[in-house]
Formats: sequence, C-alpha cells, structure tokens
Amino acid sequence: MKFFIDTANLDDIKEAQDLGVLDGVTTNPSLMAKEGITGQENIINHYKKICDIVTGDVSAEVISTDYETIIKEGEALAKLHEQIVVKVPMIKDGVKAIKYFSDKGIRTNCTLVFSAGQALLAAKAGATYVSPFIGRLDDISTDGLNLIEEIRLIYDNYGFETQILAASVRHTMHVLHCAKIGSDVMTGPLSSIEGLLKHPLTDSGLAKFLEDYKKGNG
Ligand code: E4P
Repeated sequence: MKFFIDTANLDDIKEAQDLGVLDGVTTNPSLMAKEGITGQENIINHYKKICDIVTGDVSAEVISTDYETIIKEGEALAKLHEQIVVKVPMIKDGVKAIKYFSDKGIRTNCTLVFSAGQALLAAKAGATYVSPFIGRLDDISTDGLNLIEEIRLIYDNYGFETQILAASVRHTMHVLHCAKIGSDVMTGPLSSIEGLLKHPLTDSGLAKFLEDYKKGNG
C-alpha cells in the first residue's frame, strides 16, 4: 500500500520523506489555507516546493467548478511538474474533465467521493486515483471503511485500474484497516504514519537490551 501524507506543511512532508516510506502528497485548498498559503502565485510556488521535497505524486486541487475552467486550470497545474496529479471534485463537470484529462494522458485524483456509485463513475471516466473520504463518513456515523471494501469489490469485478486512495484518514487504525481490505493508497497526517512505530513492548524491550549491554560492557 502506498503512503501519502495529507498536508501542505513542508516540515511534516520533509519528516515523512526522511523516514523513507513516503510515496506522495495530497493537498487541498483548506490545507493550503491552514499553512497561510494564499494567492495563486504563492500556491503554485508551494506545489513546486513540495515536488522538490518528495519523489512521488503530488495532488494539486483545482478550485474551478465548470468544465472549461477546470480544464484550463488542470492543464496549467499538470504543466508545473511531472509529479503533479490534478485533483478534481466529484461533480458532473468534474467527471467530464477527468475523462478529458485521461484521454490527454494527464493524471487525476477524483476527490470528495462518498459513495460506491461516485467511485464507479470516476473509474469509468479514467481517474488515476479515487479519494473516498473515510474519516468524514465516520464523523456522520457511516462506516467509511465499508465504502473502501465496496469500491475494492467493484473495481476488482471489472479490472478497473483506478487506484483507491483512502482519504480523510485520521489515525493508525484507519491505516491498518485500509491495508487489510486492499486500499491501494492511504493519505493521512504525519501522526497516522508515525503512530505505526509505537509499541510499549518495543520501548521496554529496547531499554532492557541497552541496560544489559551496559552491565556487561561498562
Ligand atoms: C483528501 O485528499 C483530502 O485532502 C483529505 O484527506 C481530507 O481529510 P479531512 O477530512 O481530514 O479534512
């Protein structure tokens, strides 16, 4: 399973990259705003900085909602860097734009997906990635992981190549469950990745090994 980090924070991106397990980055307009990145020029420069840090795919989201402008914006984003994947919302004009981008060889991430029907449509349009938001579904008492299972079944039934990118991942158990049910990718905060490291028996075991070494070696 690929690990993407879901942030526009350059320090967190560097830290995950340095760990050696990072396969890419997802951003969205809210994450950019959280880092204080405003204005189109600054946003573009920020995408370039992210591409310089990581070696994998970097999702850059369009803010247009009509077909013509999504195409214009998406083509400009795709030209920024070969690592850029154009993130397009699951709306009617978005689906049409994904089909256009797919025909042109421009990679896409279909975002704001909350149902299996939407995921089927994204795959039919040729999306590279589909992003079901599992945390936001959990927030409204709907099983987000169940959606990943449904999409996995549908995509496997027909051999769709669209990769399932579990988004809105909030914690390490989301990561583990996504891995068990065959999500291709997960994107979450740095804490969801680093949380996988932790086990109290590792900490106490290491402390004992080091203590015993000291006893025998001074
Ligand atoms: C997906 O690409 C989104 O950026 C993201 O995962 C949204 O997560 P949130 O629900 O934690 O905002």
